[in-house]
Parts: sequence; C-alpha cells; structure tokens
Amino acid sequence: MTRTKIALTGIVLSLATGVAFAAPAADNWDNLCASCHGADGKAQTKIGKKMKIRDYTDAKVQAELTDEYIIKATADGVTVDGKEKMKGFKSELSADEIKDFVAFIRKFKA
Ligand code: HEC
Repeated sequence: MTRTKIALTGIVLSLATGVAFAAPAADNWDNLCASCHGADGKAQTKIGKKMKIRDYTDAKVQAELTDEYIIKATADGVTVDGKEKMKGFKSELSADEIKDFVAFIRKFKA
C-alpha cells in the first residue's frame, strides 16, 4: 500500500512537472478519459466504479492489455456483448495521439 502511494505520488509529480509524459497524452487523458478511468488510472470515479473499469496501476491488468488493444479500444471503443461500454475516439484524436496513450497508460503501473 505504501509502495503504491509512493509510486502514485511519483506519477502525480511527474504529471505536474510534465517530465515523464508527453504533454498531449496527459492533457488528453485529463480532458477525455479521467472522468471514467480516473486521473490516476485506478478508475475510482463514480462512473469507473459503476462500470467496473479496470485499475491500470494493477500489474496483472497491465499484463493482459496489449499495446494493440489499447490503441484499438481507444480508437474504436469497447463493445461487450453488443453493448457499447466506451465510445471510440478516432474522430476526436489523431492516430499519433491515440498511440501516445500506450506509453501513458503503461506508466500507471505501480
Ligand atoms: C464514459 C466513460 C469512459 C471514458 C470517457 C473513457 N473510457 Fe476507456 N473504458 C471505459 C469502459 C467502461 C471500458 C471497458 C472496461 C471493461 O469492460 O473492462 C473502457 C476500456 C478502455 C480500454 C480497454 C482496456 C480495458 O481495460 O478493457 C482502454 C485502453 C481505454 N478504455 C482507454 C481510454 C482512453 C485512452 C480514454 C480517453 C481518450 C478513455 N478510455 C475514455 C469507459 C470510459
């Protein structure tokens, strides 16, 4: 728990200073993704809890996510059993912006 807190503090600090992340992915995350996935990637938001979004600081979750899937899910959205769980962002974001989320999401890992 303490280790997680320290790691998270590191993430928050690097977000604040803009050192660890390319600015656009961090900005896009805050503007478009954080309301559901949480600023810290843990999805402990009202919507995140309700939709049971996975915790991206969890190494097991990270291991299950391939880079290709992160790109595909962000571009095309996520549909489970014919129901749209998350809309796709390819009309709002460029291919490069979507690709930048791979490295960004990887950095949530504690
Ligand atoms: C309206 C809430 C909402 C927003 C906004 C949102 N997502 Fe999601 N996202 C979800 C849900 C719900 C899932 C499916 C979770 C599940 O079923 O495991 C998901 C799944 C994903 C996945 C697939 C991996 C997984 O855990 O299943 C990725 C990658 C992802 N989102 C990235 C993003 C990015 C990047 C943004 C911003 C550009 C974003 N999301 C915005 C709700 C949202």
